[in-house]
Amino acid sequence: MHLSVRSVTKRFGSVTALDSVDVDVRDGEFVCLLGPSGCGKTTLLRIVAGLEDASGGTVTLDGADLTHTPARHRGFGIVFQSYSLFPNLTAGENIAYGLRLRRVAAAESAARVRTLLDTVGLPGIEERLPHQLSGGQQQRVAVARALAVDPKLLLLDEPLSALDAKVRVSLRDQIRALQRRLGLPTLMVTHDQEEALAISDRVICMNHGRIEQADTPEGLYMRPATRFVAEFVGHMNFLTREDLGRIGPIRLAGGEASGTTVLGIRPEHVRLSPDEGCGNVLSANVVSRQFLGATTRLDVDVNGSRIVVDAPGVAPHVEGDAVILALPPERIREFPA
Ligand SMILES: Nc1ncnc2c1ncn2[C@@H]1O[C@H](COP(=O)(O)OP(=O)(O)OP(=O)(O)O)[C@@H](O)[C@H]1O
Ligand SMILES: [Mg+2]
Repeated sequence: MHLSVRSVTKRFGSVTALDSVDVDVRDGEFVCLLGPSGCGKTTLLRIVAGLEDASGGTVTLDGADLTHTPARHRGFGIVFQSYSLFPNLTAGENIAYGLRLRRVAAAESAARVRTLLDTVGLPGIEERLPHQLSGGQQQRVAVARALAVDPKLLLLDEPLSALDAKVRVSLRDQIRALQRRLGLPTLMVTHDQEEALAISDRVICMNHGRIEQADTPEGLYMRPATRFVAEFVGHMNFLTREDLGRIGPIRLAGGEASGTTVLGIRPEHVRLSPDEGCGNVLSANVVSRQFLGATTRLDVDVNGSRIVVDAPGVAPHVEGDAVILALPPERIREFPA
């Protein structure tokens, strides 16, 4: 299985929702579309699903052109954000809906519903109506309904966003485990960067209808290709030419920073109380301190420039403390200004 989206563009009147987008989902892969509200994630997913026509470009599956194939003939399973179950049908009827359209015999359909409810961890709830289920249970029924037709590809649009934090994490782990077990290629939309990093084989980071970077979670976080990605995924300290004017020259792994780029360093890569010989040692003052459990976040001032530092565990520093920190050259990334 290889889904391939090539140069897909979508215009709604004067709004360009997608601007020449390329996406691949390969056998067994879990791919997330990640980006801020309005960047075109749902539009892209709907075009892949066949629920929306592209203004240009192609969608192919194993080389076969799907661009003009209606949704019901694509053989994809779809789960939407919320309230996607038919409210007047029981859980069992919801799951069996696609099977009925395919004229699967009643006994076979009932057996399939039972198996699917076991698969999503909700055995025996066939007779319940959606309003008699929790949000998380409803979304699991929606996943079972999407799986009922043996989809070639699973499409999920923010299936977890309406759920509270604990349920969201637990259900995301279940979806990931299920996806692995079935080897089912999956394309999921989310605007939650932690969710995308945790669940994906690859993340496609979008902004304003374009793809900024498609990479593994580690690649996206450790080697962000653009300033947007660096800022959207995790926290990044940026040092501009003005900052370098205040804090002095900064050495990079490949030489001294020219000042025509913007430098970036993650809070957890800034070293507190650095060893002798560490590059880019700076004197700073702690402006504020937040204890976050696993780490302590310090906001420090260096000659009028601010740097956020994440120290492991309980940092002994308090507001007003003078600290010495270092920006290890190999941890600094450069972005176009
Ligand atoms: N049917 C439509 N008619 C006109 N404009 C639309 C339509 N659907 C989407 N848009 C516009 O296209 C852009 C992309 O919308 P889309 O729903 O794909 O964003 P999204 O990334 O899913 O955002 P969110 O995270 O808020 O769901 C937005 O500017 C939106 O206003
Ligand atoms: Mg959306």
